[in-house]
Amino acid sequence: VAVEKQGFSHFMAKEIFEQPQAIRATTSGRLPRAGEDDLGRGEPSFPELAELDVPALAARAKVTMLACGTSWHAALAGKYLFEQLARVPVEVDLASEFRYRQPIVRPGDLAVAISQSGETADTRAALMEARRLGATGLAICNVVDSSIAREADRVLYTHAGPEISVASTKAFTTQLAMLTLLAVHLGRRTGALTLERAAGLLDGLRELPVALDAVLGQAAAIEIIARRWRSARDWLYLGRGLAFPVALEGALKLKEISYVHAEGYACGEIKHGPIALVDERVPVVVLALEGPGYHKTLASLEEVRARGGKIIALASAGDRRIGDLADDVILVPQVDPYLQPILASVPLQLLAYHLARLEGRDVDQPRNLAKSVTVE
Ligand code: G6P
Repeated sequence: VAVEKQGFSHFMAKEIFEQPQAIRATTSGRLPRAGEDDLGRGEPSFPELAELDVPALAARAKVTMLACGTSWHAALAGKYLFEQLARVPVEVDLASEFRYRQPIVRPGDLAVAISQSGETADTRAALMEARRLGATGLAICNVVDSSIAREADRVLYTHAGPEISVASTKAFTTQLAMLTLLAVHLGRRTGALTLERAAGLLDGLRELPVALDAVLGQAAAIEIIARRWRSARDWLYLGRGLAFPVALEGALKLKEISYVHAEGYACGEIKHGPIALVDERVPVVVLALEGPGYHKTLASLEEVRARGGKIIALASAGDRRIGDLADDVILVPQVDPYLQPILASVPLQLLAYHLARLEGRDVDQPRNLAKSVTVE
């Protein structure tokens, strides 16, 4: 069946706006039913992983995540989630590098291949190599029955629905949702997460579509910000902790569809290079949501400001300080810090979308890029 734009001017816009529904589709079958008895409240359902020896994975083995492009950014976030919530060690590899660096993978390890299409040649080859070395292969894919899904020992589908736009949006946020669910599941099985904490995270995931709707409600305000900065030719995106991969992804979106140069950086790292780029012509998108690291992020923001950089801040609703520090502010609802990456990704998608549209770019089919790269 041909997928239609349903009144949106581009598939990318349609897919951005589908995210509340897509996240619901990813999570609903895994979340405990409302009214679940006390014990079930903190347990997401992963029957596919029943045979995985999770305590051994945490104590004596490791997870290797393999992916490319946007999916690699999801993997980077996955490392933070798995290590912090489940205390399971994680390495993240670019699939195109993995096979050529003589990676150390042993029987008992878990290789997680993340791919929207399930057809990316590098990711597929990396998964095969990890399995050859003895790892169990787990695929996180959107496209059902794709090559990577078929080659893995186990597969988890994100159920985001068809993604037509080359620049990935809902596939990314649903990957994040799946990784969060998985981290909670693993955290329960290693004992790193209490039932209460796990139940709180799952409640947060259940309520996330409503928060996403609130973010999407700001699309018009984000378009105004895009108009203000459309002449900029260099952008920086800064984040710390889980916001770091989100910053990388925000910069990638802008590069992909507007052909404007953008770099994502970890806040603490800007003093080692990118701060030299900053002047009044460089908009700096700072992910400054409340949570651990907030004050350090504000310190980075001040460093940029002191050098004349223009700040577009992404902040939590209710933040009273940020308005005085930033040139533009986008507020997102307060959610658990572990769920912020999903929410924070959306305004950055909208910003890139509007900037590309204002420049008259071919938003859905950017030059030189393909939806899935089936050659190595
Ligand atoms: C291509 C697409 C990207 C995507 C990457 C990985 O480069 O243009 O949007 O992130 O491939 O794709 P995958 O299907 O493996 O997630």
